[in-house]
Amino acid sequence: MSKRIATLAAMASAFLAQTALAGSDPLAATGQWSVNARGSAPLPPMGWNSWNAFNSDVDEEKVMASAQALVDSGLAAKGYRYVDIDDGWWLQRRMPDGRLLIRTANFPSALTPDGGTSFRPLTDRLHAMGLKAGIYSDIGRNTCGQAFTSTFANQPQGTVAEREVGLYGHAGQDIALLMGDWNFDLIKVDGCGIRAMGPDNPTVKSGQYRALAPLVDFDTLPRTDIAASRALYQEVAQALAKTRPDNSYVFSICLWGAADVRSWAKQVGNMSRTSEDISPNWERMLHNFDSSVRRELYAHPGSWNDPDMLYVGTGAFDMGHPVEARSHMALWAMLNAPLIIGYDLRKMTPALLDVLGNPRLIALNQDAAGNQAVLAYDSDTVQILVKTLGDGEEKAVAIFNRTNAPVDAVLTAAQLKMLGDADITLTDLWSGITTHVKGEQKLQLSPHETLIYRAKGARAHPEGLYLSEQPGHVNPAVDGVVEPEADPLIHRGTIPWSSTRGGGQHPQYGGWGGARADATPYGQGLKVGGKPFATGIGVLANSRIEVRNAGFRRFSALVGMDDSARTRDTPMTFAVYGDGRLLARSKPLPFGAAPFRLEANISGMKIVELVVSGRKGERYPAVATWGEAVMDK
Ligand code: GLA
Repeated sequence: MSKRIATLAAMASAFLAQTALAGSDPLAATGQWSVNARGSAPLPPMGWNSWNAFNSDVDEEKVMASAQALVDSGLAAKGYRYVDIDDGWWLQRRMPDGRLLIRTANFPSALTPDGGTSFRPLTDRLHAMGLKAGIYSDIGRNTCGQAFTSTFANQPQGTVAEREVGLYGHAGQDIALLMGDWNFDLIKVDGCGIRAMGPDNPTVKSGQYRALAPLVDFDTLPRTDIAASRALYQEVAQALAKTRPDNSYVFSICLWGAADVRSWAKQVGNMSRTSEDISPNWERMLHNFDSSVRRELYAHPGSWNDPDMLYVGTGAFDMGHPVEARSHMALWAMLNAPLIIGYDLRKMTPALLDVLGNPRLIALNQDAAGNQAVLAYDSDTVQILVKTLGDGEEKAVAIFNRTNAPVDAVLTAAQLKMLGDADITLTDLWSGITTHVKGEQKLQLSPHETLIYRAKGARAHPEGLYLSEQPGHVNPAVDGVVEPEADPLIHRGTIPWSSTRGGGQHPQYGGWGGARADATPYGQGLKVGGKPFATGIGVLANSRIEVRNAGFRRFSALVGMDDSARTRDTPMTFAVYGDGRLLARSKPLPFGAAPFRLEANISGMKIVELVVSGRKGERYPAVATWGEAVMDK
């Protein structure tokens, strides 16, 4: 670790300690909600970004035309407000004062009378249109375009130092300029500069760029310096809080699921990429979808999973492929993904507008409760996702055919956590057509089709809400993962830009073993002492889950070591805290014991914490189940 990074890492942990989020015992109840409270993303951000439409060939005319199209098409009024300039806007870093200069050949309004540059005229215009403005940088010295694409349009120019346009060593100065003086509202911070600028990069060898010992080894998770990567992003978070103390900003972390970002982004940023870049083909969409779909407990108001931008309108999702375009849109809505359009809006058609602007889909993505959908049925062929809306009286359900053949599926009342003998009303979110079903509904799905409905029926548990019905309120503050492991359940398509050269894709997106709703951390059904649970929270030993209490009075669960536990020789203890005080505790529960009932009065309490302690120091901690965990009125 370099001296600078060691200092940053120390600063970051001091900062965390100050905010009382990381006391000496991570399992000690805090009575606090530790999800990032800085910035402003109570709902998934919506807007447009230049990258997928224009790559780095971005200029003022394209940006302003896209902004105008957002307004004229009515998309802005529907919530698509951020207009984000991605890679390609820089000219250079001015020396010796280090101020960033804009490429005024592409952004003429940025030229100031004194010969300097400023984006303020452009952001002023966007703001006057009722829009918000976003900008792009990199956490290292150099950007993705510099690291990977020699033919990139609009490469920064000048000496080696002048071409170091990334935040490394300049976070305070650049954030003050971009988010202060220039008044941008969102910053996306990429990570290529800490991934790809090692001494072997040909551009480094040739002396074009300075070497930076990579912190992120994209292919090898154990060789990645997670703490140091986090510390750099934390430094940006602190600079943002200082520059915009009113929290009027969005911090978009773009570390593509690397550096175990899943485990820390929700304390640092407002949205965080869960995978490598999407491209406009079916297989990459599956890949990106998979990287977020089992992270339902890691998305909350204030900090969202980002499976990358929408490619609706292009390639496999163009209007020649309406089924795929709708699937992509429906799935992103269900994931509570930020809805960031990556299409040249100057070419907008009514058909495309119907997909991107569907008010029913936007409404469920923007539902105030902020619950990411939970997998109610999972397979490589069909998946059924259920998203609890509002206070729980309504659900959205998506039935997704991943394959290129037609399939039959059955949606059951139980998957919706509704009674089978009462009427369930399903409203198709594309057609608006309503049907009534009882018990179950047989469905036929065309290749790649996603059926998506709002469902209203008699809830199986009307007394309250299962925790798995309110993932936006459940935060695995300490999920018990000791050694980050790559998530193996991610579709590995052929990468279009490399074809089948090399040995294939082996994504190292840490997260396997993270807490899950209605499943164990390793994707099995929940089961304790031979008793299966259709609902509950699966987590590892030595974990602490924070739950925001939305006015409920009673917590209960049937707890125990899950029958799937690999390490099973030490009993585990379950405890419930309310606003930091112990409310209930189980006896030590050995493997195979019958589920133990834990109950607590949580009236008036804001934060309920669920703590499981087991033997410390296990590399593969035992699996713990909070079966039927529920909060009642
Ligand atoms: C990375 C990011 C993309 C885009 C490009 C720009 O690949 O993941 O979203 O910002 O860099 O170079």
